[in-house]
Amino acid sequence: TLRSVIIGAGCYLPERVVTNADLAKMVDTSDEWIVQRTGIRERHIAADGEVTSDLGIKAAQAALANAGVDAQSIDLIVVATSTPDNTFPASAVTVQAGLGITGGAAFDLQAVCSGFVFGLATVDGMLRTGMFKRALLIGAETFSRILDWNDRTTCVLFGDGAGAVVIEAQEQPGTMNDRGILTNHLRSDGRHKNKLYVDGGPSSTQTVGHLRMEGKEVFKHAVSMITDVIKDAFKATGYTARDLDWFVPHQANRRIIDGSVMKLGLDPAKVIITVDKHGNTSAASIPLALCVGIADGRIKKGDLVMFEAMGGGFTWGASLVRM
Ligand code: ACO
Repeated sequence: TLRSVIIGAGCYLPERVVTNADLAKMVDTSDEWIVQRTGIRERHIAADGEVTSDLGIKAAQAALANAGVDAQSIDLIVVATSTPDNTFPASAVTVQAGLGITGGAAFDLQAVCSGFVFGLATVDGMLRTGMFKRALLIGAETFSRILDWNDRTTCVLFGDGAGAVVIEAQEQPGTMNDRGILTNHLRSDGRHKNKLYVDGGPSSTQTVGHLRMEGKEVFKHAVSMITDVIKDAFKATGYTARDLDWFVPHQANRRIIDGSVMKLGLDPAKVIITVDKHGNTSAASIPLALCVGIADGRIKKGDLVMFEAMGGGFTWGASLVRM
């Protein structure tokens, strides 16, 4: 059986760190409020002129080095982002050129915070048909550029960053112990599209716009949507919460993560948390958390890892992967 195996991961965070105390000088907020409601303590913010593809290229280079493969062996690049450098071309082609790759295909994928999980499913499908052999999947965002820095209800929640994985088509025995992506489950429900959106865009206002969110409404749906789709992934594979080595959730908010962990009966010691240091980096948050977990030695080859995300749309999804 052809499986899509993650053979390397890498990440990049902009140099500048903005703490909650820094934000309290800009808007009427406090470290206590932000930590208690979200678990966020600091986030990285891109420098002037530093764009999404810059972060993506650095994360991709780190992932290629971690996998020990040459950039020229990549024949597919997918960048999950809602903050592309330009309306077009796709930031993925800028990443491609930045890596010196001229063959294969490169495109962007837009599913907001769920972009990385939607990307895993997309790349998995393309690798398993034999259409491509070795892919870079990158989550890269500069949400700082679409935040309303006068709106304390949103500007404290997000950060910039990028994470990348190298995924390769490999022949595996065809059992549930195979390495690779074992199952993907994606959902969307556009009835919720006005609960988390950007109030601009090329076709509607010819502006970039700012992020707007009904935080309570997002919170209300998040845990049940996340846990439903994870249960689908367990059902499809026969694995249970006890079989997981690691849970790598989208890092939006500590309370959403804790609520999901409790509802699923997961061991809190098996959860990778980076939201305290990164804030919500949208499509970049899962590969950033994965990269941290691999780099500090927690996540190892052969581990069973559940990825999960939920975000604007709403979109949500889960992927179960044997590393
Ligand atoms: N600092 C201080 N006070 C604030 C701030 C702030 N940064 N933001 C809001 N407040 C105030 C509000 O104005 C309100 O004041 P009021 O009672 O005088 O009107 C009070 O705090 C309570 O506000 P609520 O919105 O009710 O606060 P809540 O407990 O719902 O927390 C939060 C807000 C953190 C946004 C929460 O709703 C949440 O986590 N929602 C999920 C949103 C999320 O994570 N989105 C990420 C994108 S989607 C995704 O990735 C899953």
